[in-house]
Amino acid sequence: MRSQAAGIISDQKQAQRQGFIRGTGLAVPDRVLTNAELEKMVDTSDEWIRTRSGIRERRICADGEDTADLAARAGSKALSDAGVEPIDVDLIVLSTATPDHLLPSTACETQARLGAHRAAAFDVSAACAGWLYGVAIADGLLKAELFENALVIGAEKMSAIIDYTDRSTCVLFGDGAGAALLGSGGDVANGGTGLLATHMQTDGRCAQMLWRPAGGAAMPSTSETQSERLEFVKQEGRDVFKRAVLAMEESSRIVLGKAGMTIDDIDLVIPHQANIRIIESLAKRLGVDRERLYINIDRYGNTSSASIPIALDEVRRNEMVPPGGTVLMTAFGGGLAWGSAVLRL
Ligand code: UT7
Repeated sequence: MRSQAAGIISDQKQAQRQGFIRGTGLAVPDRVLTNAELEKMVDTSDEWIRTRSGIRERRICADGEDTADLAARAGSKALSDAGVEPIDVDLIVLSTATPDHLLPSTACETQARLGAHRAAAFDVSAACAGWLYGVAIADGLLKAELFENALVIGAEKMSAIIDYTDRSTCVLFGDGAGAALLGSGGDVANGGTGLLATHMQTDGRCAQMLWRPAGGAAMPSTSETQSERLEFVKQEGRDVFKRAVLAMEESSRIVLGKAGMTIDDIDLVIPHQANIRIIESLAKRLGVDRERLYINIDRYGNTSSASIPIALDEVRRNEMVPPGGTVLMTAFGGGLAWGSAVLRL
């Protein structure tokens, strides 16, 4: 029979095994695509893009620069930041909506580029919420004592799946990657750094609100699908917008409740960077002022699942949260899939 004393020991041990951030990194392509350049490609204007989305410019991969290249660069920076050698990485979880190949996973290709030859590696597919899903999965595996550390990467080459003749989508997205090395041993119950709570939710009934109709097993790519441009992202922008605000608000409240906190306990909110108006509506509903909101959409656009880890790296690098401070991260995207996490830094 499990004694009470044994239970206490095991609870304490569990409390000391939360994932915590050992290092972060980001990588974006050098090439900047400005609103002025987009004005020459489609019927749009800098003024429309800035006022309707908040985006001024985004980064676009060069020829031959792929998702795994960005992932490996961001991952390598996170490892350097943590002072950990690639060979000592136990697990790589990589979120992407733009895998370089459908087989094998981009995590495998990233592992090879990093030289993390001892690690298990797999991809997570949850669109813009993917990195937070990856963090929740990695945290669970660390707590289950299957691994000592996990490199969680969000990497996206959105320019490969965006239709640069469709003004409703091509102005929004950009390429980039962000990564965090999670260690096990975050003693959050006793004030240590680490993940305080995570939340994930999905509504597959709305799958076609944000999707790529062709190019998968259900509708393989043909000359017809290509001429109809069905390999590219299609989005019902207005509906996605409304759902994004409501879902991220609800998810934020759920994860705060799980952490035993209120929004007033949070030092900085890092929302998914899809649209400045979504971020502002969410902030208003949560009661968060501009000073407690991280925004970099003007420089990168929507980098899907790379958006939050890129922002987190900038937040850490610019010391925007005091030691022991907490961040609320929340994301929403295709699936529809969304999620949140509360992290003590
Ligand atoms: O990260 C994954 C989740 N994705 C999101 O969260 C994105 C959610 N949606 C959005 O961010 C916004 O809905 C968009 C930025 C996509 C669109 O903004 P909107 O204010 O919802 O515009 P709308 O779709 O209602 O379109 C308004 C007008 C339309 O013209 P009409 O029908 O009023 O004549 C569009 O054709 O704006 C037009 N429009 C444009 N005009 C100039 C759409 N795209 C553009 C453009 N330039 N790039």
